[in-house]
Amino acid sequence: MIVTTRNMKGGVGKTTLSMNLLAAAQPGACLIDVEEEECAQWRQRGRRFSKSSFTNSRMAEADSEEKLHRLLSEAQRRRWSIIINTPGERATPLIREAVKASTLVLIPLTGDQVELPRTLKTIEEVQQSGTDFLLVLNKVMPRVAGRDARSTADIREMLQPYRKHLWSGQITRTLLFNRAAIAGVSVFDFTNPPPAAAEVSELWRALVQRARRSQN
Ligand SMILES: Nc1ncnc2c1ncn2[C@@H]1O[C@H](COP(=O)(O)OP(=O)(O)OP(=O)(O)O)[C@@H](O)[C@H]1O
Ligand SMILES: [Mg+2]
Repeated sequence: MIVTTRNMKGGVGKTTLSMNLLAAAQPGACLIDVEEEECAQWRQRGRRFSKSSFTNSRMAEADSEEKLHRLLSEAQRRRWSIIINTPGERATPLIREAVKASTLVLIPLTGDQVELPRTLKTIEEVQQSGTDFLLVLNKVMPRVAGRDARSTADIREMLQPYRKHLWSGQITRTLLFNRAAIAGVSVFDFTNPPPAAAEVSELWRALVQRARRSQN
């Protein structure tokens, strides 16, 4: 299974979700950074810890289609799940290739309506590739008594045309994601698993389930 995080809008959480999903998917998962070194730098920051989610994890960078396909076949031979992180910019041939090769594209978006046009453009881009996709609300306000915050409900309403592609869960805004990124670890490395870790695990399960469906 190959999951690519993609949105041409910057700062929506592609790298944050890629890294934390990699932690959720261990063992047996690897990460490929396409045209980015964010993930390698993230791991570098955590090198001072004797043990973290990323101590034994496999990460590599692809700066050409040839390298991307080499890494993908290597990982598939080993039956690893693959997470591909992409940059927040317009698609390049290499990004298109990653999207095309994927089982599923994860499109994170936040509750900020200003970014919606670029997310919609990203959806178009992914639809052209023929790859299935899942929209994931990230950095949104907490749910209260199981109910979406008003701003989240508004965005869900706007995404009604894509409801079959909209994840029912959410990744709540929490400083823990920033703290994990700064320390070079994942939210799973904090003692007493925080709610953020439960949300990331739930997202991973949803991705696995959907990828199985797309493969059939
Ligand atoms: N759920 C969250 N709660 C709080 N902060 C978050 C959350 N997800 C991401 N962030 C923060 O938002 C910022 C942008 O996240 P990130 O770098 O993952 O976005 P990106 O889509 O990869 O950006 P780019 O397009 O520039 O590569 C970071 O500071 C990150 O810590
Ligand atoms: Mg990024």
